[in-house]
Amino acid sequence: MTHLSEFRRSRRASALSLSEIVRISEAARALQAQGKPVLTFGTGEPDFPTPDHVIEAAHQAALAGQTSYTPTQGTAPLRQAVADQAGFTVEASDVLISTGAKQVLSNAFLATLDPGDEVIVPAPYWTSYSDIIEFCEAKLVPVACPADTGFLLTAKALEAAITDKTRWLLLNSPGNPSGAMYSEQQLQALAEVLRRHPHVWVLADEIYQHIAYAPFTCFRNAAPDLADRMLIVNGVSKAHAMTGWRIGWGIGPAPLIKAMTAIQGQSTSGACSVSQAAALAALTGSQDHLKTRNDEFRDRRDLVVAGLNAIDGLTCPEPTGAFYAFPSCAGVIGRSTPAGKVLETDADYCDYLLNEALVALVPGRAFGLPGHFRLSYAYAETDLREGLRRISDATAALK
Ligand SMILES: Cc1ncc(COP(=O)(O)O)c(C=O)c1O
Repeated sequence: MTHLSEFRRSRRASALSLSEIVRISEAARALQAQGKPVLTFGTGEPDFPTPDHVIEAAHQAALAGQTSYTPTQGTAPLRQAVADQAGFTVEASDVLISTGAKQVLSNAFLATLDPGDEVIVPAPYWTSYSDIIEFCEAKLVPVACPADTGFLLTAKALEAAITDKTRWLLLNSPGNPSGAMYSEQQLQALAEVLRRHPHVWVLADEIYQHIAYAPFTCFRNAAPDLADRMLIVNGVSKAHAMTGWRIGWGIGPAPLIKAMTAIQGQSTSGACSVSQAAALAALTGSQDHLKTRNDEFRDRRDLVVAGLNAIDGLTCPEPTGAFYAFPSCAGVIGRSTPAGKVLETDADYCDYLLNEALVALVPGRAFGLPGHFRLSYAYAETDLREGLRRISDATAALK
């Protein structure tokens, strides 16, 4: 008799479902496969190339034999370069290099969270935060930060969300998907609350630091006294258009970095040697592209915000960083499509725009704040103009 072995997912793996962003990308791809010219504004990656000098450094590193395992914590020169450009005083020993900022987050949470522990996350939030926290069998505590708060967590809302089980406050500034950025004073107000709750640690995801249209403040500089319970997360993906190289880092107190390094040691080990050489060149070479690209993103932001606000039913606050617009579509909810379907949710509206206007966008519910959608403007201006025209025409056709 044969015994068929049945596949069974672990409880941990069962917590992970197909993300809304993947669902939309797949639907867009299916339409494209039918020959339909879908414009996709769903992805969060710069459309610029990796700078030439960075690619050259990777090439030279590979030719010079930098192709072996690297120390789990990262190469010494890259950790030193990260420490040198951090904007505050830190030892290279307090830096961990990982395979993208995403791995820094999962290292941090796997190293610190037990079942039932809570992580406070202002909503809207980047979708992976909830997946990583659930994967660690901990509890995401979303705090709604609607448009009238500027999508920013207030001291009062933070105070109300803290319990005995809170392990982390996870703050993302500039933020995905809102584009909102905390000022120094706003960070200081949050720090004031945290001082009253010494069991709460702070994870500041600052991956969009260099895509900012107002002065950026690192949380560690706003509250240096919290450094012994703060992890700063950053990387080269967004600033230097290096998403595929997979290099990010965490800067934090030695015991945390040590625990995270131990976790990483049993998953990927040290990050890719050639990518670390490339990231070193990105941090130590010319930084001229940061300003020119930031200026380009600002022009696109202005185009997109004006275009969205000109559409009856949409309201788009002006983002101060990152490359996302997060307009409210509350004004179109309740309207009917030409085919007679009533739009009941942000997801209905996004489905309508995908199928009728051939524009792929991500509904706000994926980010924990329904009634909105996210448009990434890391795309060519001609595509953005055409996309806005399509969204405008399709929205005007609603009754
Ligand atoms: C807020 C935020 N943090 C982290 C990341 C991941 O960056 P990395 O490519 O370094 O893993 C992203 C990517 O979209 C992001 O939006």
